[in-house]
Amino acid sequence: MKAITCSAPGGPEVLQLTEVPDPVPTPEQLLVRVRATALNRADTLQRLGHYPPPPGESEILGLELAGEVEAVGTAVKGFAPGDRVFGLVGGGAYAEKAVIDARMAMPIPAGWSFVQAAAVPEVFFTAQETLFTLAQLKAGETVLIHAAASGVGTAAIQMAREVGARILITAGSGEKIERCLALGATAGCQYKERDFSDWVQEITNGEGVDVIEDFIGAAYWERNLRCLKSGGRLVLVGLMGGAKVEANLAVLMTKRLQVFGSVLRSRPLADKIAITERFRSQWLPLLIAGRIQPIIDRVFPLARASEAHRYMEENRNIGKIILTVE
Ligand SMILES: NC(=O)c1ccc[n+]([C@@H]2O[C@H](COP(=O)([O-])OP(=O)(O)OC[C@H]3O[C@@H](n4cnc5c(N)ncnc54)[C@H](OP(=O)(O)O)[C@@H]3O)[C@@H](O)[C@H]2O)c1
Repeated sequence: MKAITCSAPGGPEVLQLTEVPDPVPTPEQLLVRVRATALNRADTLQRLGHYPPPPGESEILGLELAGEVEAVGTAVKGFAPGDRVFGLVGGGAYAEKAVIDARMAMPIPAGWSFVQAAAVPEVFFTAQETLFTLAQLKAGETVLIHAAASGVGTAAIQMAREVGARILITAGSGEKIERCLALGATAGCQYKERDFSDWVQEITNGEGVDVIEDFIGAAYWERNLRCLKSGGRLVLVGLMGGAKVEANLAVLMTKRLQVFGSVLRSRPLADKIAITERFRSQWLPLLIAGRIQPIIDRVFPLARASEAHRYMEENRNIGKIILTVE
């Protein structure tokens, strides 16, 4: 089969379409003819050599897929060749074929394209686990979502809107803020033009927010603590602004703050199956009903993966970037 491989760690130009052996499903897995996959920031880090796949996972990039079942592992029940499925994988989706544990594979809802389905798993699973399973965001609370026009951010805004939260966002351009407001954000701050923590103080009349969904890490740490009200919860979901901080722990104590961290890819299979099940029961029905939707920015053919990576690294996308596989 053809797949995107990295000739060496480096820039987007190291991605190339090459011939590799087909993956072989275990008894619990499906072999899927991939029709679409999607980019995630983690793919750019893996390409640079900073985020190796967990043991046992494919070296090929790609954390989510949509396609048709080509073969079914001997222990799998409930799927047959030709079924249209989508789901989260630990790697391997930038390819014509990939394997997925059958318990993580979901039937593609009627009327959905492969492109739509491929845009869902990583960002909706991440927002579900961080905002709700960990931070327990509730109706009437205020959440601050950073990098809100990102793939994960656009999912998080819609899910927070559905539970009835007040949503403050930060993003890097006026266009991104407009799109986030259209998705349900209450107010937005162009963080390059003004200090977001001053803005939060102003817009909440000095009260602060209950929950922060943060993808930036070190560069926002102190200002995030300033933005939280007493008893507030900070969820660290990404480290685009660095990992190391010098912390004044007294702030955590006196404001009685909770800090959570979360990753998806390196979780044990049992966790990922449970996450998939939570998503199927709580959020997939809202996607099927059209109440929430994956936000898709651009679609590239698989062979142009390097161009797609460059586009993401230039911070140009609002929502997901998709790769289609002919
Ligand atoms: N922990 C997990 O389980 C998990 C799972 C999935 C994703 N993630 C993380 O979630 C984040 C979003 O991923 P994604 O794939 O949705 O991203 P994405 O669509 O590529 O969007 C990322 C956006 O973040 C903003 N940004 C980049 N660097 C920044 C910086 N230094 N300071 C402030 N804003 C910055 C840019 O928008 P602006 O124009 O607004 O600056 C950029 O477009 C990443 O950090 C990713 O690693 C974590």
